[in-house]
Order: sequence, then structure tokens, then C-alpha cells
Amino acid sequence: MAPDSVTIEPATADALDEVWAIEQTCFSAPWTRKMLEAELSGNPFANFLLAKCPDPLSGSLVLAGYFCFWILFEEVRLMNLAVLPPFRRQGVATRLVCSALRTGLERGANRAMLEVRVSNQGALTLYDRLGFRRMATRTRYYANPEEDAALMEMAPLKLGTLFKPPGEIHEPGGMTTVHGRV
Ligand SMILES: CC(C)(COP(=O)(O)OP(=O)(O)OC[C@H]1O[C@@H](n2cnc3c(N)ncnc32)[C@H](O)[C@@H]1OP(=O)(O)O)[C@@H](O)C(=O)NCCC(=O)NCCS
Repeated sequence: MAPDSVTIEPATADALDEVWAIEQTCFSAPWTRKMLEAELSGNPFANFLLAKCPDPLSGSLVLAGYFCFWILFEEVRLMNLAVLPPFRRQGVATRLVCSALRTGLERGANRAMLEVRVSNQGALTLYDRLGFRRMATRTRYYANPEEDAALMEMAPLKLGTLFKPPGEIHEPGGMTTVHGRV
């Protein structure tokens, strides 16, 4: 998809139902409507971005994905990222994450962290190509199905690391103790 055909914009509370529908489509253990509502309008650390793309049939802009992230002082925490199947592998998630990292840099953050299911090879590749490194494994972190999480970090935070060519996946390194989910 051409870069200028994806529109990234902050979410407002009236996007809740559409976001919740995408959440239920994309995850085996989706956040509840209440959790999403709290992130959209109740959490002072939370930021919510929407990605809109042209509908292949009508050409009108439709919601293709979203991204929830927190800015916790010096850290950007990636919380929840989803793109609907018809819009995948077209750079939508990449644009959402890059936009969030840019916001983090502008607000003085110097690192970014995330957790991801160890079986989620697509997401692991996405984050690796964005410049995240695998730091640790969190045993039985996820439910439904129970699964370990890979903890990934980008430090220092810099847009210059984006977007390396496909290739080597980096191996786990040291340990840290933070908490979250994408
Ligand atoms: C993971 C997800 C967000 C990726 O969204 P996307 O918009 O398709 O990602 P992008 O198009 O920006 O992908 C960029 C690169 O990441 C890698 N990648 C992304 N999805 C991949 C997949 N399923 N398999 C292999 N590599 C993948 C590729 O290197 C891709 O570049 P390429 O298409 O040129 O090969 C999307 O598949 C999704 O919503 N999955 C379900 C929910 C989920 O797993 N969320 C993430 C939780 S951590």
C-alpha cells in the first residue's frame, strides 16, 4: 500500500465499538470492551492510534487497525496492536509503531518495551525488523492458550533503526522485569 494511502490518527472514545470488533477478530484472548474503554478514555498514560485505509471496493476510508501504547516517563510501552486480515502485509502495523515511537521521542522517552507470544512469528519478525531485540522470556505469561512471552526492547529509542531488511532474528539476551502486552 502506498505510504500516503494509510492515515494514522489519534482515536476518540466513539471508536470504541469498532476497535472492540477488531480486537475480537485478531486475538484468542481479547481485551474486554471495558478494558479498551479504560485505555481510550481513562488512562492518563495511554495513547491510542487508528489506521485508516481505503476500502478496496468503495475507496472510502475504513478502520484497518489500531495501536495502544503507553508513555511512562522515559519508556514507550507497546500494549496492543492489531490489523484486520485484509489489510495485513502492507505496512500498516509498521506505520502505527513508527508513529508511536516518534511521539515517544518527542516526549523524551529513550527506550521502548513490549511482550509478544513466543509463537507469534509474524509479530516477532515485525518487531525485529523495527529494531527491537529479544531480552528475556516470561514463562506462562499468556492465557487462552497458555504460552510464554518474549520480552523485547529497543534502547536507545531511535527512528534510525527503522526499517532493516528481512534476515536474521536476534537471540534472547539479559533479563528485565516490566509488564505489558501487545
Ligand atoms: C502482527 C500484525 C499486527 C502485523 O500487522 P501488518 O500490518 O501485517 O504488519 P506490516 O505489514 O507492517 O509488516 C511489516 C513486516 O513484518 C513482518 N511480518 C508481519 N506479519 C508477518 C507474518 N504474518 N509473517 C511473517 N512476517 C510478518 C514482515 O517482515 C513484514 O514485511 P513484509 O510484508 O514486507 O514481508 C498483524 O498480523 C495482526 O494484527 N496480527 C494479529 C494480532 C497480533 O498478533 N498482534 C501483535 C501482538 S504482539
